Amino acid sequence: MSDSFVELKNLSKSFNKGESEINVLKDVSLGIKRGEMIALLGASGAGKSTLLHILGGLDRPSAGSVIYGGRDIYNMGEKPLSDFRNKEIGFVFQSHHLLPEFSALENVMMPALIGRMKRDEAARQAHSLLEKVGLSERTSHKPGELSGGEQQRVALARALVLAPDVLLADEPTGNLDSKTGDEVFSLMVEMNRSMGLTFVMVTHNEKLAVQVDRQIRVQDGRIIF
Ligand SMILES: Nc1ncnc2c1ncn2[C@@H]1O[C@H](COP(=O)(O)OP(=O)(O)OP(=O)(O)O)[C@@H](O)[C@H]1O
Ligand SMILES: [Mg+2]
Repeated sequence: MSDSFVELKNLSKSFNKGESEINVLKDVSLGIKRGEMIALLGASGAGKSTLLHILGGLDRPSAGSVIYGGRDIYNMGEKPLSDFRNKEIGFVFQSHHLLPEFSALENVMMPALIGRMKRDEAARQAHSLLEKVGLSERTSHKPGELSGGEQQRVALARALVLAPDVLLADEPTGNLDSKTGDEVFSLMVEMNRSMGLTFVMVTHNEKLAVQVDRQIRVQDGRIIF
């Protein structure tokens, strides 16, 4: 696994609930190559979201390590970890989580502004990404004035505005009808190819999953090969 861009080593995750301990991930190891596109599959409750969050620096594992380019991210302090996450990782979730009061453009600019990018530069980046996702005619629309697929494309643009190396998506097409879902998915594949993004996507859609580089199945907290 030494040629891996990201390495997950012997990860486990447990939650304590009163007397009992729930073991959600059990000794998961996995290497991911730079630029690879992976579909994470498995039954509800198998541990997919938990794994994705740990992979993205959002949730600390109970044991094991997550190594990006030789750096064990959970050995960093909280501040370097959050800097790492903001800079290197983009997230897209099942719900778009766009801010309703702000336009598409402002929503996409937001992470860049929080990251202290200059306003005109942030606007330029946001425009360029909205163009890439086919929404250059919708930049001043608020989320409520966009279709579900358009909202998810804005969320995708927002996830990419700081030019992350890695895009993590948790059922990004789960709330969309199948045609719109296919379109958003195709756009993600295109982003993966054109930007060299490393991309891990949780999905229940087997038809989409077979179109990516590798399918990884999670069953009861373990990866099954
Ligand atoms: N904070 C928590 N406290 C206790 N248990 C949790 C917590 N988060 C997740 N779990 C449990 O961990 C298991 C895996 O959850 P996870 O969200 O990773 O599943 P999933 O594979 O993403 O499922 P789905 O397809 O339904 O989204 C579930 O049984 C869940 O109840
Ligand atoms: Mg989930």
